[in-house]
Amino acid sequence: MDIRLNVMSEKPLNAETPAAHLQSWITANDAFFKRNQGEIMASPVALDRWRLFVRGMVKTEIELKFSDILAMPKIEAANTLECSGNGRSLLSEKASGNPWTIGGVGNAVWGGVRLSDILAGVGVMPEARHVGFEGLDKPLGSARIQFIRSIPLEKAMSSTLLVYEMNGEPLPLDHGFPLRALALGWTGANCVKWLKRITVSDQPVAGFFMDKVYRIFQKGEDPGAGEVVTGMPLKSIITSPADHDVLPVGTVTIRGAAYAGEARVVKVEASVDGGASWQAAEFIGPDEPYAWRRWEYRWRASHPGTYRILSRATDDEGRVQPPVADWNVLGYGNNGVREHSISIVIQG
Ligand code: MTE
Repeated sequence: MDIRLNVMSEKPLNAETPAAHLQSWITANDAFFKRNQGEIMASPVALDRWRLFVRGMVKTEIELKFSDILAMPKIEAANTLECSGNGRSLLSEKASGNPWTIGGVGNAVWGGVRLSDILAGVGVMPEARHVGFEGLDKPLGSARIQFIRSIPLEKAMSSTLLVYEMNGEPLPLDHGFPLRALALGWTGANCVKWLKRITVSDQPVAGFFMDKVYRIFQKGEDPGAGEVVTGMPLKSIITSPADHDVLPVGTVTIRGAAYAGEARVVKVEASVDGGASWQAAEFIGPDEPYAWRRWEYRWRASHPGTYRILSRATDDEGRVQPPVADWNVLGYGNNGVREHSISIVIQG
């Protein structure tokens, strides 16, 4: 299938999933959004030459072959991956960065190994607190800064995979072939692609992609003092009908997806009157940890007119999706409720 993503930039390649491809629980590999800071290699690395180096505060530094990874116990897990800046362009106050709408997100079933199995094998030193990841992509821009990121050791040990499969296929080149990190329930920036080196340390990685971006900060504040973007926020989206659709009087099925990072979505409500009243939507399809849940609400639209339809999610910790997200300079984590305006008409 030749699916055209909505390309925001070619170099680096940044492209979002068109709304029409957000309609299923699984997002097809060739419809999945792409977010890059560097340049993707022209051809995939030869698997027999590929090595993963594990270095730093470990008892034994090692070099793993791809066959060593394949020989380890395999884990399959669904996980919704969202770009930290998804929804940025929908903020009422402008924020800098790629103008994502709702398609900087997708859900896949990933196959790979537990990072904790690798770390247990090398023996992490007691002082270790963070795990850094570096990929094979070539940095772009005049400063040529490599995309290196770290996550806390606790996350690395509890719920981080290194994956080589996406929806039953080898990980596609654009998504990190042959191996990427997947910090379950955390934003894409924590999931380094094309892995070549893992470094265990007592400090987070320092540098541009840790200290200047993927931080929540306000104008005039030092980005490095802001909170690091980790977990994905609680959010629901409407995937049909589309904004500005014109539909005949009758039953309108409103459908969407809802996700909550490490938490679980337990309720989705829909409103057809701009938020004055809310009705419970029904969940449809699978319910897996770290994965979005599809939902629908069947609305009997008996009168012609213009309607403001909305959805909002609640998670298992009692949090409710906010009407408007808190703003920050780089526009991360926009989980505000998004309105679709629908016209109901009498056909004839
Ligand atoms: N890994 C490397 N090596 N280089 C990158 O630029 N971008 C990150 C992450 N991993 C990136 C990376 C960001 S910001 C996101 S949102 C996700 O990859 C996007 O993953 P995808 O392109 O597979 O959807």
